[in-house]
Amino acid sequence: MPGMTIDHQLMRQVHLLGVQIGHTPLHRITRLFNKPGVTIYAKKEWEQLSGSVKARAGYAIFKAAIESGDLNKQKVLLDATSGNTGIAYATIGSRLGIGVTLCLPENASPERKEILKSLGAEIIYTCRFEGTDGAQQVAKALADVQPGTYFYADQYRNDNNWKAHYYSTALEIFNEQPGITHFVAGLGTTGTFTGTGRRLKELDPDIHLTSLQPDNPLHGLEGWKHLETAIVPGIYDNTLADDNLEVGTEEAWEMIKAAFHYERLLLSPSSAANLAGAIRVAEKLDRGIVVTVLPDNADKYKDLIKKLL
Ligand SMILES: Cc1ncc(COP(=O)(O)O)c(C=O)c1O
Repeated sequence: MPGMTIDHQLMRQVHLLGVQIGHTPLHRITRLFNKPGVTIYAKKEWEQLSGSVKARAGYAIFKAAIESGDLNKQKVLLDATSGNTGIAYATIGSRLGIGVTLCLPENASPERKEILKSLGAEIIYTCRFEGTDGAQQVAKALADVQPGTYFYADQYRNDNNWKAHYYSTALEIFNEQPGITHFVAGLGTTGTFTGTGRRLKELDPDIHLTSLQPDNPLHGLEGWKHLETAIVPGIYDNTLADDNLEVGTEEAWEMIKAAFHYERLLLSPSSAANLAGAIRVAEKLDRGIVVTVLPDNADKYKDLIKKLL
């Protein structure tokens, strides 16, 4: 439009994209868990742009950076990611015409690498033995030496990560299930648990928050962090959870099979782990509404699913 600056056009594109973020459905668990007076709901986070919960954080990070002028079409968004955030950044970047560079541990699944490449992201592979912690160090070093080229998104420290859930996930859950008594979610960057939990507690201080973690450092729950042995994300709030449970990789794999068999849900390992945690919480209750999130479905874990089902 004549007279309109490129930034206004970009902001318009950003706002238009916003309608495709969030607003995901709650699935009521009926066959896998059935106890009178206790209900479990699981939020199907893959039903939004880019197919995972990370669309929320990715979008909020892009939006805030563009609004503040830190990111524009002349700069490249840079971050470390094990996959879903990268897919969200690359999807959003390709829609907005903004380049995306991702530092990714070299052992990320071939499906993830293919998806990221097909979305036009530039990938810098980092040491497989150092996981996402090593990828973060490489991204930070790159941003430090080329500040004019990159906007370093730093999802582990960026407040817009947890705020995305504070302003969207929590309100969606509370509006749909105002009687919620328990919220359960695993910790990765911790954005989902921190933002959703913080807002739910403000809305009703009696809502009980359970965070979940893998039971050992060498786990197979992609997207989760074993906080005792990993770099603790800057946005993590260790005062928020009322309770913390550990979930094993094998337990999650069993839940992938059960969720498919009983609920017809094809889940990723971390979604299955969240569901396993929610069921453990629900089993101890006489009355209550337990809500968890299912960060993504099984689309990116085809080899594992072939082995399990
Ligand atoms: C599959 C999957 N599950 C869980 C998480 C954890 O979510 P959060 O980073 O908000 O803690 C992630 C984050 O990347 C993820 O990709």
